[in-house]
Amino acid sequence: MRAVTLSFISLSLAIPSLISASQLPLQVPTSYNEDDSLLAQDSWRAGAERYDDQQVWRVGWTGVGENAKKEVMSIIELLDLDVWHTTRSSLDVRLSPREAEVLSSYLPTSTFKPFIPDLQSLVDLSFTSTFDLEAAEEAESDDSYDDARSNEVDIEKKRKKKKKTKPAPKKPQIDPFNLTTIETPYHDAFHPIEDVYKFGQVLISTFNGKDGLDLQEINIGKTFEGRDIKGWTAKMTEVNGTQPQDLSKKRKKKHGGKGRGREREEDAEEPLELEIVVQAGQHGREWVGPSSALYFLHNLLLHATSHDDSDSRTLLKSFRFTVIPNINPDGYEYSRQHSRLWRKNRQDVGGKNGKCVGVDLNSNWGYKWRPSKHSSPCSETFPGREAFEAYETKAVSDYLAAAESRGNKVRAFIDLHSYGQLFMFPFAHSCDDFPPDAEMLMEAGLGVAKAMRTRQGEGYEAGQACDLTYRAPGDAIDYTYGVTDIRWSYSAELRDTGTYGFMLPPSLIRPTADEVTAGLLYLAKFIYVLEVNPPQTPRLDN
Ligand SMILES: *[C@@H]1O[C@H](CO)[C@@H](O)[C@H](O)[C@H]1NC(C)=O
Ligand SMILES: *[C@@H]1O[C@H](CO)[C@@H](O)[C@H](O)[C@H]1NC(C)=O
Ligand SMILES: [Zn+2]
Repeated sequence: MRAVTLSFISLSLAIPSLISASQLPLQVPTSYNEDDSLLAQDSWRAGAERYDDQQVWRVGWTGVGENAKKEVMSIIELLDLDVWHTTRSSLDVRLSPREAEVLSSYLPTSTFKPFIPDLQSLVDLSFTSTFDLEAAEEAESDDSYDDARSNEVDIEKKRKKKKKTKPAPKKPQIDPFNLTTIETPYHDAFHPIEDVYKFGQVLISTFNGKDGLDLQEINIGKTFEGRDIKGWTAKMTEVNGTQPQDLSKKRKKKHGGKGRGREREEDAEEPLELEIVVQAGQHGREWVGPSSALYFLHNLLLHATSHDDSDSRTLLKSFRFTVIPNINPDGYEYSRQHSRLWRKNRQDVGGKNGKCVGVDLNSNWGYKWRPSKHSSPCSETFPGREAFEAYETKAVSDYLAAAESRGNKVRAFIDLHSYGQLFMFPFAHSCDDFPPDAEMLMEAGLGVAKAMRTRQGEGYEAGQACDLTYRAPGDAIDYTYGVTDIRWSYSAELRDTGTYGFMLPPSLIRPTADEVTAGLLYLAKFIYVLEVNPPQTPRLDN
């Protein structure tokens, strides 16, 4: 099983590079942003960090003794290795040949395998757009491939067919920023942060005011490097016609920015509006979180404004939806331009010769936060010297803390990551800290996982974070649940389960986002039925 997977990956990886560069721009719509063209990407990639001799190994714990496991874990900590994913039964870790040699001396070979044998090829692949993949498919039918290769291509083709939402459409030339359709090619590529923010502007010009929809940009703060951390907040009012205009002015005051214009509505009787916050991008290299968050919002607005009786409309009338697709634009841009596998933010944190950069955002939130044991600021998991030292976690926590002064009560908070296909509730720092709502959180989580699985057949596991991955203090959902009192706090690890890891190819942006959309809608409906509009208590006739 594993062997097949690996061989088709390495062969299919060869395909994009076989297409001549001159062919590529023809596949890109002419209106497409020049800066985002593949050629432009190639030129900056020339100076990017390379991972040529590196591999990702999977350690299977089955059959490994407790002592050997402890030893391996302490070596991993000591060498500050880049652990990609952990489950109860396995661990994925990025290794140089020397590091692999060191670790392998502690493990039976049967439990220790190169899982991604050619990391650099995957890094290259994640930069290509769907347009090249389509070109690659066309090239596949050429006779220029030998038998063995076309065999591999068949497997890849079948796999693609199976996973695709819809039968491969011949993409019409839709402008990526034409957001009147979910088919916009915007959702077929990963984008620089400016284009994410441009997408938001176009969302507003396309949807704001439609059918009573109030859609606004929020700017919750700045990163260390001075980038804005933007999001969008949406609510549909009950009123029809011209009234929403006035309401949206009122809202503008409420959502005008952090800390400013705090004045509550004159009418103190006004009940707090329930808010659902979706955040992504804490870790720079996890590109599919931000793309999924954006797709979710786009899809929600499209459905709410095109169907009177859609669930999306009912939900948008009941909840304010706020999506902050990328809370770490510095780390994301660094991952795009310099080091594909960059995880932290880009804050100067001193350390060795004053040269360490970056706080691990998802270790920096202020609930049961603690400094790491060996705490080198250069570490991949450096939690900061104190909670909320990072500009980005501070900005989001300020936004959440100010909810009441905006007239909101944040009821759900979903934090999107990759990879692993998990949907998790608090706590992450310890399984001894058991949430009073655990049973409900688990029930909703199982429903979400099922809703996600039903879309594309990709399995997601639901459970408690401490149980499904590693014990991690300073986690976002521990804070939102434990301090901000957001009952429905979840952290999701999106696709995949390690085949591509963080380097998910653009062809998987849509299927992943489609699952995320189904899962988040399920969760919102679950909360709606439970807390907003519970069914009438049935009369108990004897
Ligand atoms: C946007 O795309 C839709 C669907 O393909 C199309 O009908 C519409 O004309 C396009 N709008 C613009 C401004 O190009
Ligand atoms: C809102 O107004 C439009 C145009 O007047 C009408 O077609 C639509 O049915 C109305 N929607 C609701 C929910 O009343
Ligand atoms: Zn993450």
